[in-house]
Order: sequence, then C-alpha cells, then structure tokens
Amino acid sequence: VPAVVRELAPELARCEARLAECVAAYASAVSAPAGDTLRAGGKRIRPLLVFCAAPRGRPDRRPALTSTAAAVELVHMATLVHDDLIDGASLRRGRPTVARALGAERAVQVGDFLFARAFGELTRAGSTAAVRTLAGAALDLSRGELDQHRAALDVALTEEQYLRRCRRKTAALFAAACRLGAYVGGADARVQARLETFGTSVGIAFQIFDDILDLTGDPVDTGKPRGTDLRGGTITLPVILALLDEPSLAGPVLDAARGLDGPAVEGLCDLLAAHPGTARARERALAFVATARDAVEGPLDGVDPAGLLEIADGVVDRYS
Ligand code: IPE
Ligand code: IPE
Ligand code: MG
Ligand code: MG
Repeated sequence: VPAVVRELAPELARCEARLAECVAAYASAVSAPAGDTLRAGGKRIRPLLVFCAAPRGRPDRRPALTSTAAAVELVHMATLVHDDLIDGASLRRGRPTVARALGAERAVQVGDFLFARAFGELTRAGSTAAVRTLAGAALDLSRGELDQHRAALDVALTEEQYLRRCRRKTAALFAAACRLGAYVGGADARVQARLETFGTSVGIAFQIFDDILDLTGDPVDTGKPRGTDLRGGTITLPVILALLDEPSLAGPVLDAARGLDGPAVEGLCDLLAAHPGTARARERALAFVATARDAVEGPLDGVDPAGLLEIADGVVDRYS
C-alpha cells in the first residue's frame, strides 16, 4: 500500500462512507448496480488527489473536503458506466460492466443517477465556484468522449489530436480534483492554479499509461481485458507511434476493430506491447510526470507535496 494511502486512510474512509450513502436509498434498479460498481473497488486516485491538494491542519474544512472527494469519484464512476457502454467493454473492476450485465438502457440510467448524486453531494461544500469547476470538468469529459467517437478508426490521428482528447476525457477531472482540493481546503488562488496544472499533466500521463495497459496489462491487475481500445477502433498513443514506424500495421489495427477473433486480438496486443512505439509512449508519459513534478516545486501555502509526488510517480508502471 502506498504511503499516501496509508497516511490518508481516515480521510479515505470518510469518503467511502459518503459514497456508500450517495449510491444507496434510491430505486434499486439503479442503486444496486451503482453500489456494486462502488464495492468492486477502484484505486480512488481522484479522491486521493483532492485530499493531497488540500493544505494540512485545517480540520474545519474536513466535511467539505469529504463531500468534494466523494463528488469527484461519483463523476468518475458515472463516466465509467457510460464509457463502458460506448466502448462496448465487457469487464470493469474485475466484474461484468453494467452495460454488459443489464443492458444499454440501464447503463444510461445508472450513469445519470451517479452524475446527479455527484452534484448533489458537491453542494454540501457550499460553494458555487466548486460546482462550476466540477461541471466544467464533466463537460470536458463528454467532449473528450465525442472526440474519441469521431476519431474512431482514424489511423492518421496525430499525437496532438490524441493529447487534446486525453486532456478532455481524463486530465480535466484530475485537474478539477486538484483545484477543488486546494480551493475547498483553503489554499490561495495561485496554489489552486498550480495544482490544477499538476493535475492536468498527471491526468495525461495516467491516460497514456492506461492506453499502454490496454495492450500490456494483466486483467488480474487492471480488472479489464486487453484489447478493448483495439476492438473499439480507438487509436491510442502506443498505436500512433507504432504506425509512424511501421505503417503496414494499419491493416491489422483496422481488422481488430472489424471483428478479429479473441486470440487474434490477443496476438496483436502482444505484438504492439513489444513494439518500440509502446516504449516511446511510456517515455512520453514519464515526461508528463516530470512536468507535473515541476508544477509543485516550491512553497505551496501549507499543501504538503509528498503525497502528490507519490501519486505522480505511481501513475506510470503502476502494476510492475
Ligand atoms: C479508468 O480510471 C478510466 C481512465 C481514465 C483511464 P481508473 O483507472 O482510475 O479506474 P478505477 O477507478 O481505478 O477503477
Ligand atoms: C477513459 O478512457 C474514459 C473515461 C474518461 C471514462 P478509457 O476508455 O481508456 O478508460 P477505460 O480503459 O475504459 O477504463
Ligand atoms: Mg473505456
Ligand atoms: Mg482504457
């Protein structure tokens, strides 16, 4: 268990208790699958960012921070449920996705429920600015998913286009988690902005590595099968970089989206995992981690950077 998780165990436990309350006590058709998704686990990296971004030693901010952390995780869970429907994903957190188990309609309803609960929970922090920040991130997220849909099967996708999508679909929520932790925790405006910048870079690194894990990750570790991006026609950074070296890979990559059988997709995952493009994508992710570290260099108005740095270093190579 990382030191940051051990140290913040009481905060995380309070957040878990809020999350359990938020998903409960509603029509069981949505409450039950939402509760199952919650109890299936997850790394809780976004709540951790909220707590790490808050200045230490201000117990009066605790209830507001707990609700903020829960709200950010609920937005994340809502996007996972909707994202798995869009991606046609079979497994999430080691279990069948809501879409796979209960159908598309239910996945839409469960995601909507989680979004609504998220914003309800955030009002407990008592700040319209906080709600505005999270709403902005939720808008960016849906824009990122639209970008991804539009770019499906586009083997000419550039690294720049890919990074813009990552900024929207993943980094925006990481950035909001950091900004909100700093703001609700009582840090000054300059520190809020620096932590937001930190969150953006960590979020991009996180998504690049998630995209690498789609090729390399053991489902026992990740809780999701390999090759979901390939099957869905989602072109990611390791694939973009491999295609630059070896344009003939476009054929197999497109075939995977057009219905290659399981073993053939696994074979393509193995091939791409071992390709120098994947090593270069990892280097890119590490460069974003370095940029993130730079953002929290120097005095931070009472925020302890140790936990933030540990999270930043942990997003790449996270299962090795
Ligand atoms: C998955 O997020 C979605 C991405 C942004 C890649 P996580 O990897 O944080 O998922 P959980 O919460 O730990 O299950
Ligand atoms: C992250 O992208 C999607 C969200 C921001 C919800 P992915 O589609 O790669 O996430 P996973 O791999 O399904 O967790
Ligand atoms: Mg997905
Ligand atoms: Mg993924």
